[in-house]
Amino acid sequence: MKQVYLDNASTTFVDSRVRAVMEHYFSDKFGNPSSLNSIGRTAKEAIEQARDSVARLLNSFPNEIVFTSSGTESINLAIKGVARANKNKGNHIITSKAEHHAVLETCKYLAQEGFEITYLDVDGYGKIDIQELKEAIKKETILISIMYANNEIGTINNISEIGKIARENNVLFHTDACQATGYLDLDVNKLNVDLMTLNGSKIYAPKGVGVLFVKEGINIQPIIHGGGQEFGLRSGTENVPAIIGFAKALEIAQQEKDFETKRLTQLRNKLINGLLDVPNTLLNGHPTDRLPNNVNISLLDIESEVTLSYLDELGIYASSGSACTSKKIEPSHVILAIGMPKNAAYGTIRFTLGKVTLEEDIDYVIESFKKMVNEIRSLRQSTITLESR
Ligand SMILES: Cc1ncc(COP(=O)(O)O)c(C=O)c1O
Repeated sequence: MKQVYLDNASTTFVDSRVRAVMEHYFSDKFGNPSSLNSIGRTAKEAIEQARDSVARLLNSFPNEIVFTSSGTESINLAIKGVARANKNKGNHIITSKAEHHAVLETCKYLAQEGFEITYLDVDGYGKIDIQELKEAIKKETILISIMYANNEIGTINNISEIGKIARENNVLFHTDACQATGYLDLDVNKLNVDLMTLNGSKIYAPKGVGVLFVKEGINIQPIIHGGGQEFGLRSGTENVPAIIGFAKALEIAQQEKDFETKRLTQLRNKLINGLLDVPNTLLNGHPTDRLPNNVNISLLDIESEVTLSYLDELGIYASSGSACTSKKIEPSHVILAIGMPKNAAYGTIRFTLGKVTLEEDIDYVIESFKKMVNEIRSLRQSTITLESR
């Protein structure tokens, strides 16, 4: 059976070039970077080379790059770390309703510590309103956290403009760039960011590695205490192979970015047009200001669990925005935030393309999707007819 993996926003496979550079750090170069023996020193040097490389790609300095265990950890460090360290200046944080749970739950937790959180609305495409952001800033505001690109609908926010507003108002700005890492410009100076979260699992690096860019001079507290690794901001023995892999994957992603963006945008648009040919479908997210690999549509009359399992049987691996909690399917907070009706939220399917996606895969998905929808609709129609007899 043909297999088409279109869930690259959840995670990607590990690139063979990335695996090759990681290999030694599992075996002969296995040392602890904090050990003073030469095997340890070799590991330490490799981490520092990886840090230099990541810093260069972000147009930043090595002492501004903190390696963590994930996007979630970087986000927790950024938001909790800045909030707690700047409590004397104010207790107000601004974010948006369409953020990843890592941001939303961290903010919710900080509210219990006495921080006040403003959740900005997003428009019908998932972007925040710049005027609303300006109006939300007050003298107690210490941090703004707005995502670069949305993980469900792919919509891209204007990060450099948001950063400019933060600077003008003397407020720190963090962006969650987990989904943007492989495709968008990561120059922290152009973006006007003070903190930026990246992760490895979407860029053909291993899972369980992240980065937090922390601009020099920023007041931030650690959330994990111990041996003082990573400039005292993230104690714990470093995951050396994953860090080496991350740096290599980021280097490859930035090299291949322009080529892949052009290639995937064409495939993405073909897939969007093919799926929207089917009656009762809607596109979620911005038609053009969206990640080149993201297609998110809603079927207004078929629930995503049904669609996903049908597609799975055809070897097509996609995703939905819904989270399955205690056996109850909850509609995605992002789809609700962009103002979609409940039936659209229950029928959301996300296809995220990747570097091995080919045009013939897209043709197969469009053809299978049309067949599937016809079959499900006619089956339901015949059931209704039978029931009404
Ligand atoms: C936008 C966004 N933020 C944060 C995360 C969390 O990253 P991790 O799974 O590495 O903790 C993800 C991963 O799905 C994401 O897509």
